[in-house]
Amino acid sequence: MIIVKLGGSIISDKNKPFSFNESVVKQIAEEIAAFYPAKKFLLVHGGGSFGHPLAKKYKIREGLKKENMSGVSKIHQAMLELNKKIIEIFLDTGLPAFSISSSSIFIIKNGQIVDGWTRVIEESIARDFIPVLFGDVAIAKDKGIDILSGDQIISYLAGKLKPEKVIFLMDVDGIYDKNPKIHEDARLIEEINEKISLRQEAAGIDVTGGVRNKIDEALKIPCPVYFINGMVRGNLTKAIKGERVGTRKL
Ligand code: IPE
Repeated sequence: MIIVKLGGSIISDKNKPFSFNESVVKQIAEEIAAFYPAKKFLLVHGGGSFGHPLAKKYKIREGLKKENMSGVSKIHQAMLELNKKIIEIFLDTGLPAFSISSSSIFIIKNGQIVDGWTRVIEESIARDFIPVLFGDVAIAKDKGIDILSGDQIISYLAGKLKPEKVIFLMDVDGIYDKNPKIHEDARLIEEINEKISLRQEAAGIDVTGGVRNKIDEALKIPCPVYFINGMVRGNLTKAIKGERVGTRKL
């Protein structure tokens, strides 16, 4: 089974609330269709401009308050809306995508899953469905309520379901030593391992918290991990085949 993360930045335009990048999702579905059902898949998508602006508006990271309770539900509904758009494209491509709400099966603490009911995911994969989970609001042991990111869902499921590989689809070519959107001389890191991650830090190179976090999480995943540009047709196919593309952790 292969886990694919559809990053929020490729399925929607962060700067345009509720925008949906239909052609990119279609391209991803078509590339997956070429391997299904010989290969099994589990998809996780991010919040993009459906989840993040609302999470900010309702101050979800500050935890549960009387005045943000309906906001919690509104975020979940917005995520369901995005999820529906994705599922419909997969269905139109002939793939049995099956929506599973993350907030219905996970409880978190400190942003990480501490309790999860994954039987339904495993059983649906066993029946050749393609479960589609998503970053979501979630019941939190510490704050009452919090945001559960797609990346955390993947870290948890990769440990539990032992996938063949995990592929992160992003809007840049992989992991860089600096932010490629700011620094022209940013260099793509082709392979990450314990040593490289340490060397980057030791050299004091400008690695954002977000990217370092991604590297640290990837190093914990017990199978090969790919970070690739999901906007480029053919990249996902290469990653599924195990060819050289983007940044890899082997
Ligand atoms: C965020 O999920 C979910 C919400 C804001 C509700 P992610 O953190 O996985 O989303 P992206 O990929 O960054 O958009």
